[in-house]
Amino acid sequence: MASASIRYLAIGLVAAATVPAAAQPERVKELATTVCIACHGADGNSPAPTFPKLAGLQSEYIAKQLNEYLAGKRKNDMMAPALESIKAGDVEPLAEYFAAQKPAPGKVEDPKLAEAGRMIFADGNASSGVPACIGCHQENGVGNPRYPRIAGQHREYIVEQLTQFKNGARTNDRGRVMRSLAARLTEEEMKAVAEYVAGL
Ligand code: HEC
Ligand code: HEC
Repeated sequence: MASASIRYLAIGLVAAATVPAAAQPERVKELATTVCIACHGADGNSPAPTFPKLAGLQSEYIAKQLNEYLAGKRKNDMMAPALESIKAGDVEPLAEYFAAQKPAPGKVEDPKLAEAGRMIFADGNASSGVPACIGCHQENGVGNPRYPRIAGQHREYIVEQLTQFKNGARTNDRGRVMRSLAARLTEEEMKAVAEYVAGL
């Protein structure tokens, strides 16, 4: 009895481990090329500046965001229909797929503004209590599993997220780290730091 159910369990585990592993690449490719492509590009290098680039973001970060959209902890009308095509089991494979794509380089359009932004990125603003971005987002904004890559991200998207953190529309940052610092950033500082980061 006991050995029979153990054998049964073992067969179940083997099946569970092999079936999704074989089906995943195709399912992810299909989602990326039929659903995500419309806004983020099939390789995660979204052509439109209001849609974030996903290519090269840390898989931990992408998975966290997808899970939080699915749970309603981060909300966006544009993402809502796409989320209906995702099942819980798609989150990890999608995160790994986009994390493995090569991010297209961005470029600075306003060097003077970018220079002001570089100072905020590297030193923060002591007089208003804004900490340096580099302290968390790392040298050149490449990020790590805890703090996402922001290097090369579209400037418009960066400004939009900083604004959402500031006005409380986005609240999924653990420990309010981004909300409390965005509250101290002026609009001009947001634009400057976004200009610099977009070119990294
Ligand atoms: C109709 C357009 C649209 C489609 C289709 C779409 N997205 Fe998005 N996505 C957006 C927008 C707009 C945002 C930024 C939303 C915000 O401000 O919260 C976003 C944000 C994201 C983010 C957060 C990125 C970050 O840097 O925090 C992830 C991850 C994401 N999308 C994954 C996907 C995946 C995976 C698919 C396909 C299954 C998909 N999206 C389909 C428009 C779209
Ligand atoms: C104390 C650590 C910390 C500091 C300092 C910090 N960040 Fe962040 N930042 C985070 C974390 C953590 C997240 C991810 C929040 C989440 O999980 O949704 C984040 C997210 C972001 C995002 C959203 C990324 C995306 O793809 O949606 C932007 C943009 C950003 N930070 C910009 C900045 C800028 C600009 C500065 C400097 C003025 C800065 N951050 C300083 C911790 C930090």
